[in-house]
Amino acid sequence: MAYKIIERRMIVPNLHEFIVEAPAVAESVKPGNFVIVRPDEHGERIPLSVADWDRTAGTVTSIFMQVGGSTAKLARLKPGNTIPTYVGPLGKETVIQNFGAVLCLGGCYGIGSIYPIARALKEAGNKVYSVLEARSSFLLYWEDKFHKVSDKVFIITRDGTRGKKGHIGQIPEMLQQAGIVPNLTIVNGCTFQMMRMSQITKPLGWKTIVNMNPIMIDGTGMCGVCRLSVGGKMKFACVDGPDFDGHEIDWEEFLARRKSYNPEEVDPLRHSSCRSHF
Ligand SMILES: Cc1cc2nc3c(=O)[nH]c(=O)nc-3n(C[C@H](O)[C@H](O)[C@H](O)COP(=O)(O)OP(=O)(O)OC[C@H]3O[C@@H](n4cnc5c(N)ncnc54)[C@H](O)[C@@H]3O)c2cc1C
Ligand code: FES
Repeated sequence: MAYKIIERRMIVPNLHEFIVEAPAVAESVKPGNFVIVRPDEHGERIPLSVADWDRTAGTVTSIFMQVGGSTAKLARLKPGNTIPTYVGPLGKETVIQNFGAVLCLGGCYGIGSIYPIARALKEAGNKVYSVLEARSSFLLYWEDKFHKVSDKVFIITRDGTRGKKGHIGQIPEMLQQAGIVPNLTIVNGCTFQMMRMSQITKPLGWKTIVNMNPIMIDGTGMCGVCRLSVGGKMKFACVDGPDFDGHEIDWEEFLARRKSYNPEEVDPLRHSSCRSHF
């Protein structure tokens, strides 16, 4: 079976919007799920979170960041091309209830993946406060979509070219000034951002859910590659998560495991003068 690419375009530098025709996935996908994609017959299977879907058209959208070999192959796909593997929806969906006030923090590809979560939380009657964080304004996307599903959208850029100048450490003060105390915080994005936000919210007693992104192979609990320690217990991100309580994760262990394949993944990219094999 081959899956047709409907769209693949760079929406901001290094981040691509990726829309695939996959009616069976589109029919049952929920916020917080992910898919496993293989860019070609010789490629690795890589997980990508879902960022949107159209059940009528049978399409599913992800936002991916080009970081290595597989995402470089995806970045070369054009509408009309096909990929051999598109498996999903995988993982447990994000718990959606009426919590009251929810802070949704997204950075990098997590701006895309937290969007359907914010939308579902709004539909469930929550006050939704979305925070989009980026190094600079040219790395922000989908702001218009967030305005439609949020009670307020906050922007933080490291260089101050949009919104508040600074970093996520200023979020508690920013919310306090707006008179907002979240009953739940959800973070999607890079590992460092999820770890840092969990460290910030822990002393404040703000319950914090993070969407973990370890290396995965099968995505179905068989290989054990995605294991992590949560509250002193071993969990598999692909079947027990990817959402976990950020205050219970052993971040040190997670970061060490995340780096374990760096020599194989990064060094070829760094030292190869010819990148045509990616
Ligand atoms: C459940 C889940 C959902 C995910 N959702 C998304 C998504 O929606 N969009 C997306 O872009 N990525 C997502 N990822 C991460 C994505 O799977 C990896 O970026 C991808 O496997 C990289 O493959 P590659 O061959 O291009 O790079 P590799 O050659 O595997 O890696 C190249 C280098 O980049 C590093 N790296 C890999 N992934 C990341 C990352 N996410 N952040 C920072 N450094 C990284 C590696 O450690 C390595 O140093 C998700 C991961 C999981 C587990
Ligand atoms: S990816 Fe293999 S057990 Fe999770």
